[in-house]
Amino acid sequence: MGFFDSRRAPAVMKHGLLRRYCPAFASKAGQLTMGRVTFLDGYAGAGCYNNDEPGSPLVLMEAAHAVSANRAVEAIFVEKDRGTFERLEIVLNEKCSGQSYTALYGDIDDHIDHILDNCRGTALFAFFDPFGPTLSADRVRSLLNKRTRDGDPTDVLVHVSVRSVWNFGSRLTKARHENRDLDPSDQKFIVRLDRFLGVDWWKDKFATVGESYTDEPDGKESGVKPANVALDVAQEYADRIARETGYYTISMPVRRRPGHVPIFVLTLFTRHGDGAWLFADSIGHAGLDWEESWQHSEISREGPRGQTGLFSQPESWSFDRDEYERRHSNEWIEIIASNIDALLMERESIRIYENVVSVFGNTLGTGARETHVRKAVKHLYMHNRVDHDGKGRYFYRDSIRRPAT
Ligand SMILES: C[S@@+](CC[C@H](N)C(=O)[O-])C[C@H]1O[C@@H](n2cnc3c(N)ncnc32)[C@H](O)[C@@H]1O
Repeated sequence: MGFFDSRRAPAVMKHGLLRRYCPAFASKAGQLTMGRVTFLDGYAGAGCYNNDEPGSPLVLMEAAHAVSANRAVEAIFVEKDRGTFERLEIVLNEKCSGQSYTALYGDIDDHIDHILDNCRGTALFAFFDPFGPTLSADRVRSLLNKRTRDGDPTDVLVHVSVRSVWNFGSRLTKARHENRDLDPSDQKFIVRLDRFLGVDWWKDKFATVGESYTDEPDGKESGVKPANVALDVAQEYADRIARETGYYTISMPVRRRPGHVPIFVLTLFTRHGDGAWLFADSIGHAGLDWEESWQHSEISREGPRGQTGLFSQPESWSFDRDEYERRHSNEWIEIIASNIDALLMERESIRIYENVVSVFGNTLGTGARETHVRKAVKHLYMHNRVDHDGKGRYFYRDSIRRPAT
Protein backbone atom coordinates (compact mmCIF):
# COMPACT_ATOMS: atom_id res chain seq x y z
CA MET A 1 0.00 0.00 0.00
CA GLY A 2 1.43 3.43 -0.95
CA PHE A 3 1.56 6.51 1.29
CA PHE A 4 -1.18 8.34 -0.62
CA ASP A 5 -3.59 5.37 -1.02
CA SER A 6 -5.68 6.12 2.03
CA ARG A 7 -5.33 7.86 5.35
CA ARG A 8 -4.35 5.85 8.41
CA ALA A 9 -4.93 6.76 12.06
CA PRO A 10 -1.62 8.70 12.55
CA ALA A 11 -2.39 10.90 9.52
CA VAL A 12 -5.94 11.38 10.78
CA MET A 13 -4.48 12.74 14.02
CA LYS A 14 -2.04 15.01 12.15
CA HIS A 15 -4.77 16.43 9.92
CA GLY A 16 -7.23 16.67 12.82
CA LEU A 17 -4.67 18.84 14.59
CA LEU A 18 -4.10 21.08 11.54
CA ARG A 19 -7.85 21.42 10.98
CA ARG A 20 -8.37 22.80 14.51
CA TYR A 21 -5.09 24.54 15.20
CA CYS A 22 -4.63 26.54 11.98
CA PRO A 23 -7.88 28.54 12.18
CA ALA A 24 -7.19 29.17 15.89
CA PHE A 25 -3.66 30.36 15.06
CA ALA A 26 -4.90 32.59 12.22
CA SER A 27 -7.54 34.18 14.44
CA LYS A 28 -5.19 34.82 17.32
CA ALA A 29 -1.87 35.69 15.67
CA GLY A 30 -3.60 37.51 12.81
CA GLN A 31 -4.75 40.15 15.34
CA LEU A 32 -1.15 41.37 15.44
CA THR A 33 -0.71 41.59 11.66
CA MET A 34 -3.88 43.35 10.52
CA GLY A 35 -5.37 40.01 9.54
CA ARG A 36 -2.51 38.94 7.25
CA VAL A 37 -1.55 35.30 7.67
CA THR A 38 0.65 32.79 5.79
CA PHE A 39 0.24 29.03 5.91
CA LEU A 40 3.34 27.26 4.58
CA ASP A 41 3.29 23.52 3.87
CA GLY A 42 6.97 22.78 3.11
CA TYR A 43 6.57 19.06 2.31
CA ALA A 44 3.14 19.24 0.76
CA GLY A 45 2.59 15.88 -0.92
CA ALA A 46 -0.17 15.32 -3.47
CA GLY A 47 -2.94 17.37 -1.84
CA CYS A 48 -5.23 14.44 -1.27
CA TYR A 49 -5.15 10.66 -1.08
CA ASN A 50 -6.09 8.33 -3.92
CA ASN A 51 -9.47 7.77 -2.27
CA ASP A 52 -10.05 11.55 -2.23
CA GLU A 53 -9.51 12.05 1.52
CA PRO A 54 -7.80 15.40 2.05
CA GLY A 55 -4.04 15.63 2.65
CA SER A 56 -2.45 18.54 4.47
CA PRO A 57 -2.75 21.02 1.54
CA LEU A 58 -6.53 20.62 1.37
CA VAL A 59 -6.81 20.69 5.15
CA LEU A 60 -4.89 23.99 5.21
CA MET A 61 -7.02 25.42 2.40
CA GLU A 62 -10.15 24.47 4.35
CA ALA A 63 -8.70 26.18 7.44
CA ALA A 64 -7.93 29.29 5.37
CA HIS A 65 -11.49 29.30 4.06
CA ALA A 66 -12.89 28.93 7.59
CA VAL A 67 -11.31 32.24 8.68
CA SER A 68 -11.65 34.09 5.38
CA ALA A 69 -14.29 36.52 6.72
CA ASN A 70 -11.66 38.39 8.73
CA ARG A 71 -8.27 36.91 7.86
CA ALA A 72 -6.41 37.14 4.54
CA VAL A 73 -4.54 33.85 4.36
CA GLU A 74 -1.92 33.18 1.70
CA ALA A 75 -1.21 29.45 1.48
CA ILE A 76 2.12 28.27 0.05
CA PHE A 77 2.87 24.66 -0.87
CA VAL A 78 6.27 23.23 -1.77
CA GLU A 79 6.75 19.75 -3.26
CA LYS A 80 9.96 18.27 -4.56
CA ASP A 81 8.75 15.21 -6.45
CA ARG A 82 7.69 16.13 -10.01
CA GLY A 83 4.81 13.62 -10.34
CA THR A 84 3.47 14.41 -6.87
CA PHE A 85 3.71 18.14 -7.60
CA GLU A 86 1.73 17.76 -10.81
CA ARG A 87 -0.99 15.95 -8.90
CA LEU A 88 -0.96 18.63 -6.22
CA GLU A 89 -1.49 21.32 -8.84
CA ILE A 90 -4.46 19.47 -10.30
CA VAL A 91 -6.01 18.86 -6.88
CA LEU A 92 -5.63 22.51 -5.81
CA ASN A 93 -6.93 23.71 -9.13
CA GLU A 94 -10.00 21.48 -8.96
CA LYS A 95 -10.86 21.90 -5.30
CA CYS A 96 -9.71 25.40 -4.34
CA SER A 97 -10.45 27.66 -7.27
CA GLY A 98 -11.12 31.20 -6.12
CA GLN A 99 -8.87 30.80 -3.07
CA SER A 100 -5.43 32.36 -2.86
CA TYR A 101 -2.49 29.93 -2.88
CA THR A 102 0.93 29.36 -4.45
CA ALA A 103 2.29 25.92 -5.35
CA LEU A 104 6.06 25.73 -5.83
CA TYR A 105 7.95 22.85 -7.38
CA GLY A 106 11.31 21.96 -5.88
CA ASP A 107 13.23 21.61 -2.64
CA ILE A 108 11.96 23.58 0.35
CA ASP A 109 15.58 24.50 1.13
CA ASP A 110 15.83 26.32 -2.20
CA HIS A 111 12.55 28.21 -1.70
CA ILE A 112 12.55 29.02 1.98
CA ASP A 113 14.54 32.28 1.98
CA HIS A 114 12.40 33.78 -0.73
CA ILE A 115 9.21 32.65 1.04
CA LEU A 116 10.38 34.19 4.32
CA ASP A 117 11.17 37.50 2.60
CA ASN A 118 7.70 37.53 1.06
CA CYS A 119 5.80 36.76 4.23
CA ARG A 120 7.30 39.51 6.37
CA GLY A 121 4.61 41.35 8.28
CA THR A 122 2.27 38.35 8.25
CA ALA A 123 1.62 35.73 10.94
CA LEU A 124 3.32 32.55 9.75
CA PHE A 125 2.26 28.99 10.44
CA ALA A 126 4.82 26.64 8.83
CA PHE A 127 4.30 22.89 8.64
CA PHE A 128 7.26 20.61 7.88
CA ASP A 129 6.14 17.05 7.31
CA PRO A 130 8.92 15.10 5.60
CA PHE A 131 9.00 11.29 5.39
CA GLY A 132 12.30 11.06 7.23
CA PRO A 133 15.06 13.19 8.69
CA THR A 134 15.49 15.64 5.81
CA LEU A 135 14.85 18.96 7.53
CA SER A 136 17.99 20.30 9.18
CA ALA A 137 17.94 21.55 12.77
CA ASP A 138 19.92 24.59 11.57
CA ARG A 139 17.17 25.43 9.12
CA VAL A 140 14.48 25.32 11.83
CA ARG A 141 16.63 27.36 14.21
CA SER A 142 17.51 30.02 11.67
CA LEU A 143 13.88 30.33 10.55
CA LEU A 144 12.69 30.83 14.13
CA ASN A 145 15.49 33.32 14.88
CA LYS A 146 14.88 35.33 11.73
CA ARG A 147 11.18 35.63 12.48
CA THR A 148 12.00 36.78 16.03
CA ARG A 149 14.31 39.47 14.65
CA ASP A 150 11.58 40.59 12.24
CA GLY A 151 9.11 40.66 15.15
CA ASP A 152 6.48 38.62 13.30
CA PRO A 153 4.25 36.02 15.00
CA THR A 154 5.41 32.53 14.05
CA ASP A 155 4.54 28.92 14.76
CA VAL A 156 6.39 25.98 13.27
CA LEU A 157 5.04 22.43 13.41
CA VAL A 158 7.58 19.70 12.68
CA HIS A 159 7.00 16.00 12.06
CA VAL A 160 9.88 14.25 13.84
CA SER A 161 10.20 10.69 12.62
CA VAL A 162 10.81 8.46 15.64
CA ARG A 163 11.16 5.55 13.23
CA SER A 164 14.09 7.23 11.41
CA VAL A 165 15.83 8.23 14.62
CA TRP A 166 15.42 4.68 15.90
CA ASN A 167 16.58 3.21 12.60
CA PHE A 168 19.66 5.41 12.35
CA GLY A 169 20.50 5.17 16.03
CA SER A 170 20.24 1.40 15.95
CA ARG A 171 23.00 1.30 13.32
CA LEU A 172 25.27 2.84 15.91
CA THR A 173 24.11 0.37 18.52
CA LYS A 174 24.56 -2.59 16.15
CA ALA A 175 28.14 -1.59 15.36
CA ARG A 176 28.85 -1.18 19.06
CA HIS A 177 27.43 -4.64 19.88
CA GLU A 178 29.48 -6.16 17.07
CA ASN A 179 32.52 -4.30 18.28
CA ARG A 180 33.32 -2.85 14.87
CA ASP A 181 33.69 0.52 13.16
CA LEU A 182 30.77 1.98 11.22
CA ASP A 183 30.68 0.95 7.58
CA PRO A 184 30.39 3.61 4.82
CA SER A 185 26.60 3.26 4.48
CA ASP A 186 26.20 3.65 8.25
CA GLN A 187 28.43 6.74 8.07
CA LYS A 188 26.09 8.29 5.51
CA PHE A 189 23.11 7.75 7.79
CA ILE A 190 24.97 9.28 10.69
CA VAL A 191 25.74 12.39 8.62
CA ARG A 192 22.03 12.72 7.75
CA LEU A 193 21.02 12.36 11.37
CA ASP A 194 23.64 14.89 12.47
CA ARG A 195 22.15 17.35 10.00
CA PHE A 196 18.61 16.63 11.16
CA LEU A 197 19.20 16.69 14.92
CA GLY A 198 22.37 18.70 15.34
CA VAL A 199 25.87 17.29 15.45
CA ASP A 200 26.82 14.51 17.87
CA TRP A 201 24.76 15.09 21.03
CA TRP A 202 22.23 12.33 20.22
CA LYS A 203 24.85 9.58 19.83
CA ASP A 204 25.41 9.07 23.54
CA LYS A 205 21.73 8.36 24.03
CA PHE A 206 21.99 5.20 21.96
CA ALA A 207 24.86 3.93 24.10
CA THR A 208 22.19 2.84 26.60
CA VAL A 209 20.22 0.65 24.18
CA GLY A 210 20.25 -3.02 25.13
CA GLU A 211 20.46 -6.19 23.07
CA SER A 212 17.12 -5.56 21.37
CA TYR A 213 18.54 -3.13 18.80
CA THR A 214 17.14 -5.13 15.89
CA ASP A 215 13.52 -4.98 17.13
CA GLU A 216 10.92 -3.08 15.19
CA PRO A 217 9.98 0.29 16.69
CA ASP A 218 6.23 0.03 16.09
CA GLY A 219 5.43 -3.48 17.25
CA LYS A 220 3.44 -4.14 20.40
CA GLU A 221 6.13 -5.22 22.81
CA SER A 222 9.29 -5.51 20.79
CA GLY A 223 11.61 -2.60 20.32
CA VAL A 224 10.19 -0.61 23.21
CA LYS A 225 13.58 0.20 24.54
CA PRO A 226 15.28 1.55 21.40
CA ALA A 227 12.08 3.35 20.48
CA ASN A 228 12.02 4.95 23.93
CA VAL A 229 15.53 6.20 23.31
CA ALA A 230 14.36 7.60 19.96
CA LEU A 231 11.48 9.34 21.75
CA ASP A 232 13.86 10.77 24.28
CA VAL A 233 16.05 12.05 21.42
CA ALA A 234 12.98 13.63 19.76
CA GLN A 235 12.14 15.43 23.02
CA GLU A 236 15.68 16.69 23.49
CA TYR A 237 15.75 17.89 19.88
CA ALA A 238 12.67 20.01 20.66
CA ASP A 239 13.98 21.24 24.01
CA ARG A 240 17.34 22.24 22.52
CA ILE A 241 15.80 24.25 19.70
CA ALA A 242 13.32 25.86 22.10
CA ARG A 243 16.12 26.83 24.50
CA GLU A 244 18.31 28.22 21.74
CA THR A 245 15.55 30.27 20.12
CA GLY A 246 13.42 31.30 23.10
CA TYR A 247 10.30 29.59 21.71
CA TYR A 248 7.87 27.47 23.70
CA THR A 249 7.64 23.88 22.54
CA ILE A 250 5.08 21.14 22.93
CA SER A 251 5.20 17.64 21.44
CA MET A 252 2.63 14.98 20.75
CA PRO A 253 3.78 11.39 20.08
CA VAL A 254 1.54 9.72 17.49
CA ARG A 255 0.86 5.96 17.44
CA ARG A 256 -0.83 3.56 15.07
CA ARG A 257 -2.85 1.97 17.86
CA PRO A 258 -3.03 2.20 21.65
CA GLY A 259 -0.20 0.18 23.16
CA HIS A 260 2.05 0.67 20.13
CA VAL A 261 5.24 2.66 20.23
CA PRO A 262 4.89 6.10 18.57
CA ILE A 263 6.04 6.32 14.95
CA PHE A 264 6.42 10.07 14.88
CA VAL A 265 6.12 13.11 17.10
CA LEU A 266 4.40 16.35 16.15
CA THR A 267 6.43 19.15 17.70
CA LEU A 268 5.23 22.72 17.82
CA PHE A 269 7.49 25.73 18.31
CA THR A 270 5.53 28.82 19.21
CA ARG A 271 6.43 32.29 20.42
CA HIS A 272 3.42 32.59 22.69
CA GLY A 273 2.06 30.51 25.57
CA ASP A 274 -1.36 30.77 23.95
CA GLY A 275 0.05 28.65 21.11
CA ALA A 276 0.88 25.75 23.43
CA TRP A 277 -2.53 26.07 25.06
CA LEU A 278 -4.38 26.05 21.71
CA PHE A 279 -2.22 23.16 20.51
CA ALA A 280 -3.16 21.05 23.55
CA ASP A 281 -6.84 21.82 23.03
CA SER A 282 -6.65 21.06 19.29
CA ILE A 283 -4.73 17.83 19.80
CA GLY A 284 -7.41 16.78 22.30
CA HIS A 285 -10.03 16.98 19.55
CA ALA A 286 -7.66 15.27 17.12
CA GLY A 287 -7.16 12.46 19.66
CA LEU A 288 -10.86 11.64 19.33
CA ASP A 289 -10.48 11.56 15.51
CA TRP A 290 -7.57 9.15 15.98
CA GLU A 291 -9.57 6.95 18.36
CA GLU A 292 -12.37 6.70 15.82
CA SER A 293 -9.96 5.99 12.97
CA TRP A 294 -7.97 3.14 14.55
CA GLN A 295 -11.13 1.54 15.92
CA HIS A 296 -12.73 1.77 12.51
CA SER A 297 -9.78 0.19 10.74
CA GLU A 298 -9.66 -2.51 13.41
CA ILE A 299 -13.29 -3.53 12.87
CA SER A 300 -12.91 -3.36 9.08
CA ARG A 301 -9.90 -5.63 9.10
CA GLU A 302 -10.63 -9.08 7.72
CA GLY A 303 -9.67 -12.04 9.85
CA PRO A 304 -8.42 -15.41 8.54
CA ARG A 305 -11.81 -16.63 7.29
CA GLY A 306 -13.24 -13.30 6.24
CA GLN A 307 -14.58 -12.50 9.72
CA THR A 308 -13.97 -8.93 10.83
CA GLY A 309 -11.93 -7.59 13.75
CA LEU A 310 -13.97 -6.45 16.74
CA PHE A 311 -17.58 -6.72 15.62
CA SER A 312 -19.51 -8.90 13.25
CA GLN A 313 -21.18 -6.03 11.35
CA PRO A 314 -18.66 -3.27 10.65
CA GLU A 315 -21.09 -1.41 8.37
CA SER A 316 -23.39 -0.76 11.33
CA TRP A 317 -20.57 0.44 13.57
CA SER A 318 -20.14 4.10 14.39
CA PHE A 319 -17.96 5.83 16.92
CA ASP A 320 -19.94 7.72 19.55
CA ARG A 321 -17.63 10.59 20.53
CA ASP A 322 -19.94 11.88 23.26
CA GLU A 323 -20.23 8.50 24.89
CA TYR A 324 -16.44 7.96 24.66
CA GLU A 325 -15.85 11.33 26.25
CA ARG A 326 -18.43 10.72 28.99
CA ARG A 327 -16.70 7.46 29.82
CA HIS A 328 -13.26 9.06 30.09
CA SER A 329 -13.73 12.63 31.25
CA ASN A 330 -13.70 11.98 35.01
CA GLU A 331 -10.40 10.17 34.65
CA TRP A 332 -8.92 13.03 32.54
CA ILE A 333 -10.13 15.63 35.04
CA GLU A 334 -8.65 13.68 37.96
CA ILE A 335 -5.26 13.34 36.27
CA ILE A 336 -5.14 17.02 35.29
CA ALA A 337 -6.21 18.11 38.79
CA SER A 338 -3.48 16.01 40.34
CA ASN A 339 -0.92 17.42 37.87
CA ILE A 340 -1.86 20.99 38.84
CA ASP A 341 -1.75 20.02 42.51
CA ALA A 342 1.72 18.53 42.04
CA LEU A 343 2.97 21.70 40.30
CA LEU A 344 1.77 23.74 43.27
CA MET A 345 3.81 21.54 45.62
CA GLU A 346 6.90 22.81 43.81
CA ARG A 347 5.94 26.42 43.11
CA GLU A 348 4.04 29.18 44.80
CA SER A 349 1.97 29.98 41.73
CA ILE A 350 1.51 28.72 38.19
CA ARG A 351 -0.12 29.90 34.99
CA ILE A 352 -1.62 27.01 33.06
CA TYR A 353 -0.64 28.23 29.61
CA GLU A 354 3.00 28.37 30.67
CA ASN A 355 2.85 24.77 31.96
CA VAL A 356 0.70 23.06 29.36
CA VAL A 357 2.85 19.92 29.04
CA SER A 358 2.90 19.30 32.82
CA VAL A 359 -0.77 20.19 33.29
CA PHE A 360 -2.05 17.80 30.60
CA GLY A 361 0.60 15.15 31.35
CA ASN A 362 -0.39 11.85 29.80
CA THR A 363 -3.91 13.06 28.98
CA LEU A 364 -2.42 15.14 26.11
CA GLY A 365 -3.98 14.02 22.82
CA THR A 366 -6.37 11.53 24.43
CA GLY A 367 -9.47 13.70 24.06
CA ALA A 368 -8.79 15.92 27.10
CA ARG A 369 -9.16 19.63 26.29
CA GLU A 370 -9.83 23.08 27.71
CA THR A 371 -13.15 22.02 29.24
CA HIS A 372 -11.44 19.27 31.27
CA VAL A 373 -8.71 21.60 32.51
CA ARG A 374 -11.35 24.11 33.57
CA LYS A 375 -13.26 21.40 35.44
CA ALA A 376 -10.04 20.26 37.11
CA VAL A 377 -9.38 23.82 38.37
CA LYS A 378 -12.99 24.08 39.59
CA HIS A 379 -12.66 20.74 41.35
CA LEU A 380 -9.47 21.87 43.11
CA TYR A 381 -11.16 25.15 44.06
CA MET A 382 -14.12 23.30 45.58
CA HIS A 383 -11.71 21.22 47.63
CA ASN A 384 -9.86 24.31 48.79
CA ARG A 385 -6.64 23.36 46.97
CA VAL A 386 -6.39 26.46 44.74
CA ASP A 387 -7.50 30.10 44.92
CA HIS A 388 -8.95 30.24 41.38
CA ASP A 389 -12.53 29.26 40.67
CA GLY A 390 -11.81 28.20 37.06
CA LYS A 391 -14.12 30.89 35.69
CA GLY A 392 -13.33 33.46 33.03
CA ARG A 393 -12.54 33.13 29.34
CA TYR A 394 -8.79 33.40 29.91
CA PHE A 395 -8.55 31.46 33.18
CA TYR A 396 -5.55 29.61 31.72
CA ARG A 397 -3.51 32.85 31.71
CA ASP A 398 -4.24 33.71 35.36
CA SER A 399 -1.93 33.00 38.28
CA ILE A 400 -3.17 30.06 40.34
CA ARG A 401 -2.00 29.60 43.93
CA ARG A 402 -2.93 27.79 47.10
CA PRO A 403 -5.78 29.56 48.95
CA ALA A 404 -4.73 32.07 51.61
CA THR A 405 -5.05 30.50 55.05
C1 LIG B 1 4.91 12.73 4.22
S1 LIG B 1 4.71 13.39 2.62
C2 LIG B 1 3.70 14.78 2.91
C3 LIG B 1 2.32 14.49 3.36
C4 LIG B 1 1.45 15.71 3.48
N1 LIG B 1 2.10 16.73 4.33
C5 LIG B 1 0.10 15.35 4.05
O1 LIG B 1 -0.07 15.38 5.29
O2 LIG B 1 -0.81 15.09 3.25
C6 LIG B 1 6.26 14.18 2.30
C7 LIG B 1 6.34 14.86 0.94
O3 LIG B 1 7.47 15.72 0.96
C8 LIG B 1 8.09 15.68 -0.32
N2 LIG B 1 9.50 16.11 -0.12
C9 LIG B 1 10.55 15.38 0.34
N3 LIG B 1 11.66 16.13 0.45
C10 LIG B 1 11.30 17.39 0.09
C11 LIG B 1 12.00 18.63 0.05
N4 LIG B 1 13.29 18.70 0.39
N5 LIG B 1 11.32 19.74 -0.33
C12 LIG B 1 10.00 19.66 -0.65
N6 LIG B 1 9.29 18.51 -0.64
C13 LIG B 1 9.92 17.39 -0.26
C14 LIG B 1 7.93 14.24 -0.75
O4 LIG B 1 8.03 14.12 -2.16
C15 LIG B 1 6.54 13.90 -0.20
O5 LIG B 1 5.54 14.10 -1.18
